[in-house]
Amino acid sequence: MSGVPGRVAVLDLEPVSSDFLAEVVTGLSRTPRTLPCKFFYDERGADLFQKICELPEYYITRTETKLLRRYAPEIAESIGPNAALIGFGTGAGIKTRLLLEHLQNPIAYIPVDISKQRLIDSAIELSHAMPALEILPVCADYLQELQFPKPLRKPDHVAVFFPGSTIGNLDPPVAADFLRRVCRLCGQSGGLIIGIDLQKSRAVLEAAYNDSAGVTAEFNLNLLARANRELGADFDLSRWTHRAVYNESEGRIEMHLISDADQNVHVGGREFAFARGEKIITEFSYKHTLEGFARLAASAGFREAARVWTDPEQLFAIFHFAVAE
Ligand code: AVI
Repeated sequence: MSGVPGRVAVLDLEPVSSDFLAEVVTGLSRTPRTLPCKFFYDERGADLFQKICELPEYYITRTETKLLRRYAPEIAESIGPNAALIGFGTGAGIKTRLLLEHLQNPIAYIPVDISKQRLIDSAIELSHAMPALEILPVCADYLQELQFPKPLRKPDHVAVFFPGSTIGNLDPPVAADFLRRVCRLCGQSGGLIIGIDLQKSRAVLEAAYNDSAGVTAEFNLNLLARANRELGADFDLSRWTHRAVYNESEGRIEMHLISDADQNVHVGGREFAFARGEKIITEFSYKHTLEGFARLAASAGFREAARVWTDPEQLFAIFHFAVAE
């Protein structure tokens, strides 16, 4: 909706909560047990994630935002004029705004996010800042095949913006599938701008996911609290501990919830018995090398000769991939 600041129409494809129940039961029935990290982001989880992004130990958001402040004009030039920008999980929208403000004649902005309130709030804020821009928010799980709303004006090409290193939360085969789908979405003349967290020392990584204020612990435990709220589960939060470890051989941070006691938990009419010390894996966060990620994108159909912007310490990278001929 362009020219009506403060009003946005959301295309609502939010997954229903029965998906949550089915995925919790399936995950807790596995060995080792898992819970899907996409369910972190209810309203409380989205607020906690916002706090994580501001933590001194969590260098990711700060570094990527700094890169965008510095290189947005170059990135925008590399994208080119008359683009429809699709933003996946673009959250509070600060990074997108940095990019949009430098794009030449953006045709529309289509933010896609699973967290409805966050999507609405950031779209409204953006509509005030850029009243001439057509904003078409879609509340959905962007890992699913989606139908995108059509902008009023026809764009010359599609640019997909996927910041925050969120692709790191996907297992490599799922990430490759996702990139293949993005490649098709971009078409021959489009491209992908993606933020990637780079491999670095264990100490820096583990500090980022075990912050001293305990916000990441609360974020992790909120998954159990959410299951209690929405599914009537009976997790006793005082008997679970957050832990994040770097698995160097796999190049990933692993977030766990550890059972502090032998205990039984009930969800959806099922009983799950946990031994003391048993873990539930709640999230993987893969860290890449520059070469490794370029190879992954090339295997999905993007041209290998991408542009890439990094900080002097090589903590983080922003790639711009074009689709291979
Ligand atoms: C959203 N994603 C990129 C975050 C990450 O760093 O993997 C989620 C997160 N989990 C704990 N802290 C932040």
